Amino acid sequence: MYSIDHRDLGTPASPAPGQVTLEIDGNPVTVPAGTSVMRAAALAGARIPKLCATDTLNAFGSCRLCLVEIEGRRGYPASCTTEAAAGMQVRTDSPQLEKLRRGVVELYLSDHPLDCAACPADGHCELQSVAAGLGIRESRYAAGGATQRGSSPDTSNPYFVFDPDLCIVCSRCVRACNEVQGTHALTIEGRGFGSQVAASQHESFLESECVSCGACVESCPTAALTETSRAAMGAPARAVTTTCAYCGVGCSFKAEINDAGVVRMAPNRDGAANHGHACVKGRFAYGYATHPDRVLKPMIRERITDPWREVSWDAAIGRAASEFRRIQAACGPDSVGGITSSRCTNEETFLVQKLVRAALGTNNVDTCARVCHSPTGYGLKSTLGESAGTQAFDSVMKADVIVVIGANPTDGHPVFASQIKRRLRQGARLIVIDPRVIDLVHCAHIDAAAHLQLLPGTNVALINALAHVVVTEGLADDAFAEARCDIESYRRWKSFVAETRNSPEATEAITGVPARLVRKAARIYAAGPNSAIYYGLGVTEHSQGTTMVMGIANLAMATGNLGREGVGVSPLRGQNNVQGSCDMGSFPHEFSGYRHVSDDAVRGLFEDAWKVPLANEPGLRIPNMFEAALDGSFRGLYVQGEDFVQSDPDTRHVVAAMTAMECVVVQDLFLNETARYAHVFLPGSSFLEKDGTFTNAERRISRVRKVMEPLAGLADWEITVRLAQALGYPMHYSHPSEIMQEIARLTPTFHGVDYEKLDRLGSIQWPCNDAAPEGTPTMHIGTFVRGKGRFCLTEYVATSERVTSRYPLILTTGRVLFQYNVGAQTRRTANLAWHHEDRLDIHPDDAESRGIEDGGWVGISSRTGDTVMRAAVSRRMAPGVVYTTFHFPESGANLVTTENSDWATNCPEYKVTAVQVVKVGQPDAWRARVASERGARRTPAAPSA
Ligand code: SF4
Ligand code: SF4
Ligand code: SF4
Ligand code: FES
Repeated sequence: MYSIDHRDLGTPASPAPGQVTLEIDGNPVTVPAGTSVMRAAALAGARIPKLCATDTLNAFGSCRLCLVEIEGRRGYPASCTTEAAAGMQVRTDSPQLEKLRRGVVELYLSDHPLDCAACPADGHCELQSVAAGLGIRESRYAAGGATQRGSSPDTSNPYFVFDPDLCIVCSRCVRACNEVQGTHALTIEGRGFGSQVAASQHESFLESECVSCGACVESCPTAALTETSRAAMGAPARAVTTTCAYCGVGCSFKAEINDAGVVRMAPNRDGAANHGHACVKGRFAYGYATHPDRVLKPMIRERITDPWREVSWDAAIGRAASEFRRIQAACGPDSVGGITSSRCTNEETFLVQKLVRAALGTNNVDTCARVCHSPTGYGLKSTLGESAGTQAFDSVMKADVIVVIGANPTDGHPVFASQIKRRLRQGARLIVIDPRVIDLVHCAHIDAAAHLQLLPGTNVALINALAHVVVTEGLADDAFAEARCDIESYRRWKSFVAETRNSPEATEAITGVPARLVRKAARIYAAGPNSAIYYGLGVTEHSQGTTMVMGIANLAMATGNLGREGVGVSPLRGQNNVQGSCDMGSFPHEFSGYRHVSDDAVRGLFEDAWKVPLANEPGLRIPNMFEAALDGSFRGLYVQGEDFVQSDPDTRHVVAAMTAMECVVVQDLFLNETARYAHVFLPGSSFLEKDGTFTNAERRISRVRKVMEPLAGLADWEITVRLAQALGYPMHYSHPSEIMQEIARLTPTFHGVDYEKLDRLGSIQWPCNDAAPEGTPTMHIGTFVRGKGRFCLTEYVATSERVTSRYPLILTTGRVLFQYNVGAQTRRTANLAWHHEDRLDIHPDDAESRGIEDGGWVGISSRTGDTVMRAAVSRRMAPGVVYTTFHFPESGANLVTTENSDWATNCPEYKVTAVQVVKVGQPDAWRARVASERGARRTPAAPSA
């Protein structure tokens, strides 16, 4: 079903160089070479009727409706499959063309119910529009729907319905699934009037390989594939362009709304990160925003064992402020702190760190990026000079070799995964470095050239082995490295990686990866010519996370794979605004733009702007806050939009720290696990309820626009402003655009950013300043941000987390497509239909030796703790390695993860925990407790004070 404000040009833009000029109905038009006549005509203002063509898919030429006349050519060619040529004279309308088109449309109508008024697509159906355009109301060939299949609609998918009777078999859905999504879940079966769309092997959509991305729904010209919400809520009346609040891809959407609310989230075809595509989360799983679990009244309580009391905003904010001031008066300014959210906007995040530094007078501020990509910041800044990825997503379309390390894009970054698959289908080669057989390794029309299935915790040994091959086989780009990098560091690094102990043969025993496979991968990467590395939390969440990031940057510098399109080092950021929360000064040692708090000039700038003296010593990181809470020196915490009791490692340790604090203020949508230990609860607002910006994994700043008023009355930024005022620190903003003006004034990489420019350009990749007024898609062109690139030595140091006879398996963690992070949002949507509990993936050999069956309960124990969940027997894992997710609180996955962390940044070592797994008969007490509290979490509240 097409978007309410999109003009479809019929076929995609041509990437070919050069231009051609032709005449459409006597009017000259100049288009890129390779453009279809249909698109050229649309650009010239002519409307050629069409059904099987749409500008997101390659032309197919099946409906024969788009016929045109071309001077000097016989017959009536289809304009969608005919390429525009210089001097061509095209006629799009004539009595003969109209006669032919009427015949085609009447044939379609003969097989179609003509009950348009009762159809959910009424007014948004291309068949209806085409027929109306030709003045056709009925078919000469048969009564409408007389030859219909009479099949029942497939309602298995909770978000959309497939009604075969409304299908005109145009194949747009099949092509969308193949070309756009890359899942290849659909086929057309049968011939003539008997042909129909089938999902996988005649399964329902829910049971098929379909991942519910919605690309088929978006491309369907009729109501054969229709959103359930569209049928229930009626037609949308207007659209607001905004940005997805789930992952770091940062897809742009048009939120189509009417008086009943959001009718659908239509992927924005002009979105620079997604180009009209989306995944099941952003496209469909937005219902959490209006879920009845939302807490809409501020609440307070004296002790965490007391019931909550609903109070006014003033009372709740006043309590938080007076408690923080009381604690500071007794224990000093550094006895309190704050945590910013990677799900909130840049503006909101900036305000929280400003409140902590300026109003509370401490640098005790940190962010949930601490537990995911903090090693990226440190590692890339040390080597390249900037704490961010080097490329735009579109750069991958120029890559010849794509290396995916410790990431699972089809689940974690689905829209970018579709783009990777598109490039791979065009012939790029793929190297996967991951302990699991992720989907990309073998999927439709894709086979990785090499899958290095290493043991968790051995990344650095492997990157050194790859570098060893590059250096010792003469595959390095010495000219690039010597011209662009610090020569001394390059020489030192070369001799280090060339040592025999770093060879693939020597490291094979450590990594478990055959040396010949390492050599093969290194040769493919070095040969490129354009090789791009994409990595995820499987790189960073290790005791040597920062070392591995440096190792990746070293390898890219040594092979000249930086500073142009098609190459680069790109972290795939987990949450929607992880990049932004880091950029905005959320770390305890840095102001916005990654400038150290001890730098007098920088601090002076902020002191002048904020009109208060600022501390010059770094504050506490999240793990240090927990330690300090346990020793009694840290007693008050303001947490915006993070649930670290569920997401952080070693849950019992976190809970002990939370319980020790005197004033915990949680600002969130729901009473999450962390709120169990809170004294003040401030109701947050969803992305649909506020204005601001998010910054995605490619440094792209995109607008978030308000679709509805905040359900609790205040947007998150307004709450922070009122808390600052209650603390006696003046903050006055009437709109988030004013906060962005302050960010731009104080942050060199944001100097050129403002809302007017964002509205005009759609989005901007920072740095955006006088040197790059419209932003910077590719970084490090010509020179690195730090000047000369710096090679860092990456000595492999084995983690202290070792398998033993007591804990003989390695547990590693990750995520699935249908759930997101701690699940607070996705657990409150119909995504539960696909994934309703965390399970432990275990290899059949490990399962059999323990008597474990698929779906049976297993106990998992580590030196930190234990939990119980169901097993999923799977060959995705190598023997000796088990895997789970942490989307559900009752699974208690982080009860077993340890306090080990990255040497440089304290990022937890989630990816390596030595465990034992045994068969058990039933769930444990933790699971039973959390499950029983679900739904009864909120203690009945007293009337407002
Ligand atoms: S379901 Fe829609 S897109 Fe697919 S073949 Fe039928 S009409 Fe075309
Ligand atoms: S929803 Fe996506 S994955 Fe499923 S059939 Fe449609 S295009 Fe394919
Ligand atoms: S890929 Fe990420 S940003 Fe895009 S729709 Fe899915 S969750 Fe949202
Ligand atoms: S639109 Fe050209 S053949 Fe269908």
